[in-house]
Amino acid sequence: MQHKTRNVAIIGTGLVGSSCAYSMVNQGICDDLLLIDINRERALGEAMDLSHCIDFTNVRTKVRAGSYEECGDRDIIIITAGAPPKPGQTRLDTLGVSAKIMQDVVSNVMKSGFNGIFLIASNPVDIITYMVWKISGLPRNQVIGTGTSLDSSRLKAILSDILDVDPRSIHGYSLGEHGDSQFVAWSHVTVGGKPFLQILEEHKDRFGEINLDEITDKVRKAGWEIYNRKGTTYYGIGNALAFIARSIFNDDHKVIAVSAVLDGEYGVKDICTGVPAIITREGIKEIVELNLTPVEKEKFQQSNKVLKEYMQTIGF
Ligand code: LAC
Repeated sequence: MQHKTRNVAIIGTGLVGSSCAYSMVNQGICDDLLLIDINRERALGEAMDLSHCIDFTNVRTKVRAGSYEECGDRDIIIITAGAPPKPGQTRLDTLGVSAKIMQDVVSNVMKSGFNGIFLIASNPVDIITYMVWKISGLPRNQVIGTGTSLDSSRLKAILSDILDVDPRSIHGYSLGEHGDSQFVAWSHVTVGGKPFLQILEEHKDRFGEINLDEITDKVRKAGWEIYNRKGTTYYGIGNALAFIARSIFNDDHKVIAVSAVLDGEYGVKDICTGVPAIITREGIKEIVELNLTPVEKEKFQQSNKVLKEYMQTIGF
């Protein structure tokens, strides 16, 4: 019987990396999980702790701490290393420090002969994903950022509370920057297949008070609401990473709002931003081009402008 081991490495075993590892182990997403951190003792401690889950899980995952030299046989490398924002900073403000870290991380990985898929959560994720693509030299389908996958999940959670419907029966996306310039593509939000805007129109008695801009604002600020209470966020993003990794290994062809390198889609080139994409064993198989309304197109352009301005500060 032929068996291909599913190999993953997580670079950065802080709260995001270790939450992702915990999800991977509990969901049996890979067979072999390598943890790498600048603080080797921390990676070792996480690997030991996670290994001790084994008797209580459904699938065996070998977890160990290791080094960049061991990255050559990895199918997916998840990057969570970076600089968390200090109080008052936005995700974009952390760019300088994270960009420096990324230069080393990616060149070290590439020296190992890695030719798999990079999956990136480090913020500002859209710009960092673009950097990883540039530095690695890999084809664009092999570089994926978590983008607005988490924001889209937050949108569904908020709408679920309003409508009293399972979030998984709600489809729709927040698009653009995983940051303050993101926007909800309301024209494409559906509930059980029915357009959300039509539901609002037909049920003014129940939903007349709903303010779409307020919901968009809640989605945008959700990360900060958590940050202000517990200092950082990790479960949501950890699960988003595990979800994308599982879709890759299963060759699901699932459509997820990720940060992708655009090459003409949506009329844009040379930028990474949150768009729906079909995720397969090859990474990004195709970017889904939604027919955005003129207002949504304008918001998308505004968001791209913000990203481009920050990209220029690090020479892109
Ligand atoms: C958040 C972090 C991952 O939005 O940016 O929770």
